[in-house]
Amino acid sequence: MPEKGLIDELRDRVRKSPLPRHVAIIMDGNGRWAELRGLPRVEGHRAGSEAVRAVTREARRIGLEALTLYAFSAQNWGRPEEEVGALMALLAEYLDAERDEIMENGIRLEAVGEVERLPSFVRGRLDRMRAESAGNRGMVLTLALSYGGREELVQAARRLVRRGLPPERITEDALEGELWTSDARLPTLDLLVRTSGERRISNFLLWQSAYAELSFVETLWPDFRELSLLQAVADFQTRERRFGLTGAQVAGGSPGE
Ligand code: IPE
Ligand code: IPE
Ligand code: MG
Repeated sequence: MPEKGLIDELRDRVRKSPLPRHVAIIMDGNGRWAELRGLPRVEGHRAGSEAVRAVTREARRIGLEALTLYAFSAQNWGRPEEEVGALMALLAEYLDAERDEIMENGIRLEAVGEVERLPSFVRGRLDRMRAESAGNRGMVLTLALSYGGREELVQAARRLVRRGLPPERITEDALEGELWTSDARLPTLDLLVRTSGERRISNFLLWQSAYAELSFVETLWPDFRELSLLQAVADFQTRERRFGLTGAQVAGGSPGE
């Protein structure tokens, strides 16, 4: 691989600075990748699953705590039946193929979204992998499946009501505690990447992205590999996060003043 030297060099560099704890990716552009090659869209999704493998491996290698991948949105159910079916089949294939790699690397597999809507052949595999990997202490890899940020907030509100919480106990912490990402015990989101040149959130991690750094890259998801991830992390490391404070406060390390 001609890029190998570049990848090794960049990996060494990003490891020397604080890493984002939690990176999430909107894996977009599979359809366009295939169309550009005169292939059916499903071939783009297939190529996209190769990118998932490469990026997961690199994320683990640099030592990210959490990687969350938007694989299928609640709104994606509205796509042609054939495409939805192909995506579900690929997902099952992916879970079967990645089992050993996940276990060997101590990865905890999680899912966020309305997973009960998934067909049983996907749901069964997912539940098995989650149970099997639950004790792993390495990186947590979360698949967002039938996921929507608004849907997540609505179900969190319902849970609070079901618990009978009085209004004054409905706090940010209480609401956050009912999110799917809290069920999965994910750290705060630091970096949100979207591929394929689109500059929108498309209902992903709406609550969690409040202070995340955003990165929009032109690369189509099937072409996003180790180097692309490292570049996104390196770019994150150049940002100054202020959380509403002044630059001087942040630089002085005295956020309370
Ligand atoms: C992302 O690629 C994968 C899913 C949404 C499942 P797309 O299928 O959205 O690809 P484009 O945006 O049409 O190129
Ligand atoms: C977002 O991509 C969902 C996933 C990547 C799984 P979409 O392709 O569905 O988003 P829009 O339709 O361009 O907003
Ligand atoms: Mg798309």
